[in-house]
Amino acid sequence: MYIIDKEEVDAVQRVIESKQLFRYRGGEGGETDHFEKEWAEKIGVTYAVAVTSGTAALISGLVGMGIGPGDEVIVPAYTFMATALAPLAVGAVPILSEVDESLTLDPEDVERKITPRTKVIIPVHMVGLPSNMDAMMEIAAKHDLQVLEDACQADGGAYGGKRLGAIGHAGAFSFNHFKIITCGEGGALVTDDREIYERALIFHDGGCSFRDHAPSMQTPFFAGWNFRINEILSAILRVQTTRLDGMLEAMLTEKRTMIAALNDAGPFTFNPIHDVEGDCGTTLALLFDDEPTMRRFLAGCDEAEVRADTPIDSGRHVYTNWDVVLNQRGSHNPAFDAYNLTDVEVEYSQDMCPRTLDVLSRTAYLYTDPARPREELDRLIETVQRVAEQL
Ligand SMILES: Cc1ncc(COP(=O)(O)O)c(C=O)c1O
Repeated sequence: MYIIDKEEVDAVQRVIESKQLFRYRGGEGGETDHFEKEWAEKIGVTYAVAVTSGTAALISGLVGMGIGPGDEVIVPAYTFMATALAPLAVGAVPILSEVDESLTLDPEDVERKITPRTKVIIPVHMVGLPSNMDAMMEIAAKHDLQVLEDACQADGGAYGGKRLGAIGHAGAFSFNHFKIITCGEGGALVTDDREIYERALIFHDGGCSFRDHAPSMQTPFFAGWNFRINEILSAILRVQTTRLDGMLEAMLTEKRTMIAALNDAGPFTFNPIHDVEGDCGTTLALLFDDEPTMRRFLAGCDEAEVRADTPIDSGRHVYTNWDVVLNQRGSHNPAFDAYNLTDVEVEYSQDMCPRTLDVLSRTAYLYTDPARPREELDRLIETVQRVAEQL
């Protein structure tokens, strides 16, 4: 859904002409440093680390929080699989929790899944919908846990007047091709916590101890990886960041128009939203009483050439399709495998989150478009109204 144009071309040209494509080696103060500052400001946090993907941001966040073997991390059963793979990358085990009708973590189930080994909750703001962050932060405080927000599908969204990613102890963003803003592949970790920031900074750059900022670091260095972003991608992201609020406003306006027009249009309600002001507005979720009616709605939309789909068919986003997790193949090497590093037996099964499967199979998605002319939206709404009336 991203918008990309001449401004990004100019930004890329500027970097290429500067011949400075690497963020360090004299690149300090360059595009990436500026992007990190601008993104931290946009989200309302002290620190941002730009990385190569949302997955890298999640892994860096967990490293920042000191998570490792023996730890459990609660993730929703409905999210892109990377949310569940990130704990495995640091040697911890993902524990799957139900989502409710809001399509985000069900707080009651999260509490049920907490054990003495639980260290982190990862609420995922799926399809731009804010999770119930009051409940998440309350549960975390009660059980002394950390919260890593997965805002990969919710760049710029908010909850309770704060941007998503700024409410938990840290937040992860993705800027891959499918996200609200993009540089093709990219990500960012944000936090107000100096220790999380420094640990993530060290981990994302194996050469961290040789950089200009090394003397100012308070955290002892440890072996890191390479999740460094480059100056071309950061230059694109700086332009994309300036587009973000306008896009969110346009999408939310479309979504509100659709909600007003489709209220009482057919046998569905709207999935509840934890903060209608902070919703990114990318997706309108319609909740049906049963799957056959939802499927008839999709068939009608398909015939009328309206883009619509259902989360139950979204493959890699539904836990039943996460084979490497369900089969507990947590690493390329058994000695590194988180499932061999915990002293308890972890159990997964295809039917372990029945509420999630029920909600996903009764939900249909319609999509907004920040660049769509109003007449086109009106035509789409009329078509959907006709489809819904015939159900
Ligand atoms: C909810 C969620 N978490 C994490 C990721 C991982 O992001 P990336 O693909 O940038 O690694 C994605 C990306 O699709 C996502 O949708």
